[in-house]
Amino acid sequence: MTAVLEVAGLRAGYSGVEVLHGIDLRVDAGEVVALLGANGAGKTTTLHAVCGLVTRTGGDVRVLGATVPRGRASATVWRTARRGLALVSEDRALFSQLTVGENLTLGPRRRDRRAVEEALGLFPVLRDLLGRRAGLCSGGEQQMLAIARALAGRPRLLLVDECSLGLAPIVVGQLLPAIRRIADTGTAVVLVEQHVPAALAVADRAYVLSRGAVAYDGDAGTLAARPDVLEEAYLGRA
Ligand SMILES: Nc1ncnc2c1ncn2[C@@H]1O[C@H](COP(=O)(O)OP(=O)(O)OP(=O)(O)O)[C@@H](O)[C@H]1O
Ligand SMILES: [Mg+2]
Repeated sequence: MTAVLEVAGLRAGYSGVEVLHGIDLRVDAGEVVALLGANGAGKTTTLHAVCGLVTRTGGDVRVLGATVPRGRASATVWRTARRGLALVSEDRALFSQLTVGENLTLGPRRRDRRAVEEALGLFPVLRDLLGRRAGLCSGGEQQMLAIARALAGRPRLLLVDECSLGLAPIVVGQLLPAIRRIADTGTAVVLVEQHVPAALAVADRAYVLSRGAVAYDGDAGTLAARPDVLEEAYLGRA
């Protein structure tokens, strides 16, 4: 297996307060890796530190075999983006005044027509919405658009932060299998998700964070059968 993302001893925090205390993480091509844990455990910070949106204070991050320099965040973001990394953040970061179609084709990175077509194939509902302003789309439609938009840049590594936040269970039931299909085409996916059973159903492996450290890592199916591990991580008791 080819490691697309290798994180070793990652430390990061805010204003001098460390919130990640040495995270080790590995994601291979074609894998969905779920990143789980209670609110405040450090999931978003981990994704942001990988992208360079949060400054790393220690440890190594390698994307596609290349070490991501620690340096200035904005420059690092640009370099990692070019190396094939895409982040779908909680706020979706769409251009709400632009149409769905414009959101898919405009952006700092070159959009590949075939990649846009493939992304629309994954979320066919978006085809009927191409002329609609993104800001007028439903939460689920916007989330599909945010993922489709990331895919239009043909990432090798897709980081998805809480794509189902605030969405109805039926929409979650459509989004997560799409994430699985994305990985099945060879893209590596890190999935931060609060719907734990749904996430484990599409993931190959999982990491459970607790207070900025990895409390558990292993096969998704094995973790799904370990409610004690999940309860401990989410509720602080076994
Ligand atoms: N911009 C910030 N400034 C200061 N502290 C922050 C900032 N963002 C996050 N934190 C703190 O860092 C810790 C980890 O937060 P993080 O957002 O990574 O957690 P999370 O696992 O993504 O949680 P959630 O499930 O609620 O999204 C928390 O204690 C949080 O309060
Ligand atoms: Mg978060």
